[in-house]
Amino acid sequence: MTTLLLASASPARLSTLRSAGIEPVVRVSGVDEDAVLAAAAEQAGAALPPADAVLALARAKAHAVLPTLEHVPHDDHGTELPDDLVVLGCDSLLELDGEALGKPADPADAIARWRRMRGRSGVLHTGHWLVDERDGATGEVGATASTVVHFADLSDAEIEAYVATGEPLAVAGAFTIDGIGGPFVTGLEGDHHTVVGLSLPLLRDLLGRLDVTVPSLWAGSPGATAGATTAAGRTGFVLRTPRLVIRSMTAEHARTLAAYRSEPEVARYQSWDAPFTLAQARAFVAEVAGRDPVSPGRWVQLAVEADGEHVGDLAVRVDPDGEQARVGVTFAGAAQGRGYATEALDALVDHLFSAGLHRVVADCDARNTASARLLERVGMRREAEHRSAAFWKGEWTDEYVYAVLRDEWRHDT
Ligand SMILES: CC(C)(COP(=O)(O)OP(=O)(O)OC[C@H]1O[C@@H](n2cnc3c(N)ncnc32)[C@H](O)[C@@H]1OP(=O)(O)O)[C@@H](O)C(=O)NCCC(=O)NCCS
Repeated sequence: MTTLLLASASPARLSTLRSAGIEPVVRVSGVDEDAVLAAAAEQAGAALPPADAVLALARAKAHAVLPTLEHVPHDDHGTELPDDLVVLGCDSLLELDGEALGKPADPADAIARWRRMRGRSGVLHTGHWLVDERDGATGEVGATASTVVHFADLSDAEIEAYVATGEPLAVAGAFTIDGIGGPFVTGLEGDHHTVVGLSLPLLRDLLGRLDVTVPSLWAGSPGATAGATTAAGRTGFVLRTPRLVIRSMTAEHARTLAAYRSEPEVARYQSWDAPFTLAQARAFVAEVAGRDPVSPGRWVQLAVEADGEHVGDLAVRVDPDGEQARVGVTFAGAAQGRGYATEALDALVDHLFSAGLHRVVADCDARNTASARLLERVGMRREAEHRSAAFWKGEWTDEYVYAVLRDEWRHDT
């Protein structure tokens, strides 16, 4: 059993790990970066090249949290930290003309940087340092990943507009690839996660050197769920109904998901084709796994379990403004016809309205009578019929739109 502790406050690093199915504990401790680099330069007899500087800083960040594990042995929710931690420190810098560039000092600095960077290429270095804090372990390993970044030839107006968003001021190298800065990067040579701030393939390699596999870190993997103190156990979303447990889908659901998505009748009106392979299921789960169905702007997949068996799922995407949600339901053929889908969807819609949402919507292929019956059973109105509006699996199909407003919801939310 292993839990990753991320010694970084960067939301991009956290979200990179989460997208890969890893739910880390986050703990950040201040590091005097100038002092670390000065000490390293003194030891080396010269300023460290950027690739070595990020490694020294990653190491310093990982080491800075170690003493706190003993003094504050619980997380922000008061839950005791597990004793199976591997600590990860990361640091990133952009190298341009041999110079190491961290976060810009102010907007003027960001503008000057972008005038140098536009139409040219730099190297984004991300240092990674792992310290094995599992019981009895003592190892530590580190390495730097470097990716060449080609920048678009921005106009002065684009540079000013970009700097005015504030984003370049918050990030190493004054750009992001996964945010507002995305259109300003024309190409990469190397792993794109390095540019986001955490190279997943390098992390895998480093973990391997500590005898830790990536699957053992997946939230909900057999190793990760055994015990109430794991990241997934602490923070995962759970909703209970009389017969069902509805919870964040994790890697442990991939096999059953692949099985029921491979049933031709289950796939018939859905976006995937049968068979749906285990590899597809794993990739899908890694992409959509989420902790809470109210995660604006992203699809979250919730597994539905009956008597401990994974029998179906609910999909939900809350709009970025947090006011409306789109939902979908899928159950294994053997679990249909028992009212499970009604029970699960009812509970989800109820939860969404309790969380303050205004409207919940579901799309339904007009031929999918089981789905239409289900949506009507939970109290959704058919409010639109789009004729021949979706080109679906080789043919034009009619589509219904069902919706329910919070004011209409029969429950006391
Ligand atoms: C859409 C789908 C989830 C509906 O599943 P379902 O099993 O028909 O729905 P429920 O679980 O609510 O079960 C309702 C049926 O079980 C019966 N039932 C048996 N016991 C019941 C109980 N305790 N409570 C309620 N219904 C019960 C109902 O009479 C109803 O049967 P009917 O539709 O023939 O009248 C299912 O067909 C499916 O997964 N399809 C493939 C995926 C898909 O197309 N999804 C729709 C896209 S959003």
